[in-house]
Amino acid sequence: AAGVASGLPRQVAIVGAASMVKSGRKLTGSSKQREPPSTTAMIGKVLHRALQQANLTVRDLDGLVAVPSLQGDHFMEAHYQATALGLFGNGHEPRALRCRTLDTGGAGPVSALLEAERMIQAEGLECVAVVAADAVGSMSSETFLSKADDIFFKLGKTLGQPEGSVKSPAIPHGYDRITQLQMKNYDLKRIQLQMAVSLESYHASLHPDSLQSQKSNAAFDPVKDNQQSTQSQSRYYSSYTTLEQVQSSTPVTPNISLLECARRADGAACLILASNRFLQRRNVWAPGIPVVIGGGAFSGPLYPPQNPDLITDVMYASCQQAMTRAYASAGNLCAKDIHFFGLYDCFPICLVRAIEACGLAPIGGGGKYLEIQHQRLVTALESDSDDTTAGIRKGGAVESLLMDPSFFPINTHGGLLCFGAPWEVPAMFNIVEAVDQLRGQARGRQIQGCRRALVFGNGGVLSASAVAILATSS
Ligand code: CAA
Repeated sequence: AAGVASGLPRQVAIVGAASMVKSGRKLTGSSKQREPPSTTAMIGKVLHRALQQANLTVRDLDGLVAVPSLQGDHFMEAHYQATALGLFGNGHEPRALRCRTLDTGGAGPVSALLEAERMIQAEGLECVAVVAADAVGSMSSETFLSKADDIFFKLGKTLGQPEGSVKSPAIPHGYDRITQLQMKNYDLKRIQLQMAVSLESYHASLHPDSLQSQKSNAAFDPVKDNQQSTQSQSRYYSSYTTLEQVQSSTPVTPNISLLECARRADGAACLILASNRFLQRRNVWAPGIPVVIGGGAFSGPLYPPQNPDLITDVMYASCQQAMTRAYASAGNLCAKDIHFFGLYDCFPICLVRAIEACGLAPIGGGGKYLEIQHQRLVTALESDSDDTTAGIRKGGAVESLLMDPSFFPINTHGGLLCFGAPWEVPAMFNIVEAVDQLRGQARGRQIQGCRRALVFGNGGVLSASAVAILATSS
């Protein structure tokens, strides 16, 4: 892998990365008349913040890539948002902006990142924004399910599947079919899937912006507030969800409970990509800037059939294929070259398959990997008798676990399950967290020596996969 992180010949850097997430107001009962948050307003905020990080303004943009939203449901999302935000300028001072809308479902942000990189490399653009926003947290459950279910009910009818074969909620039921197959084929255990939630929840407890931390209403900053302390340093923003709590969570399908579902949210994120030519001209190119060094994508069917015999590993291996392509394009890297993994986890089975596909565990070994990592966490917590609110003991077992780069280097923000999941936005959160890690700015949860990151987005029911590999430039 030596030399691949130089930023050349792929010369595109991520110079801005900003995100926001909120649980959203459920617009039911008396609040029915209230408007849900506007995706345009959210995009405006994160765009401004991401541009500010790079000392740029909207005038510097010559491209915009967007993914669609369930709440906005706009025709030509990128053109819509660019028009609504005034990015085309006015009649007196029009500005050239190339817009693209990409729809690969939850894989969209990673597909959009790779498209923005291609626009810079192949079309000669210099500075492109990637944006995504949605407000499914503010939707009532009925509205959300009527929109999300409808897609798959219609598809079932089109494919001539018997009435009622696709049950509501359609998405969790689709993932349940894959879960059953993996449990049967690879001795994957239900408890191992539940451990995924507990592990991610532990990471989310160290991130101030995760929905989990927001919900616990931690108004203080534990890192700052305890920096005087010599005995212990509390870094927790919330307590984490124990395995027992996941096990007692309300069942949604036979193999998925509420805490094992992507956590609906409102939110938005923005990335600013620029060519190093542009950055050198602006005198802001510096070693350490995250650059894109590889990418790959692959597709499969939109929904798994009812008959398990027809669900084959090959048909649902888009993640595996995308990973293989991404590693190859980054100069034949492999899992041991990567320090942070931002893996899509709308349901634990998606995470298990991604862990196997990226090479952190052998095929069929994802469940065991989670079990080992969970055991490491529990042992360290027990050893420090840490209740995850008291603080991390200096020199204690938890602190040394967190210093060990091999401890669950996945979704240090908490993933879709615990950070928050605004429909097609959350893979952006994986990328923003990767950028924070590569910049050394993942305060309180930094992976030591993080120089390369892999981000994966998944759309539909394992239907679209996009993977990008990022590295710090040297
Ligand atoms: N962790 C913690 N809390 C959670 C949670 C989680 N993972 N998921 C839900 N909750 C909380 C909610 O915040 C809510 O709390 P409050 O009452 O305090 O607001 C409570 O549990 C109840 O949640 P819901 O209101 O959502 O409950 P419901 O009974 O109305 O609906 C459900 C349950 C049908 C399972 C619904 O939550 C659901 O559909 N979830 C899955 C969302 C989904 O499918 N997202 C897309 C994933 S696929 C993908 O990402 C790919 C793509 O291409 C887009």
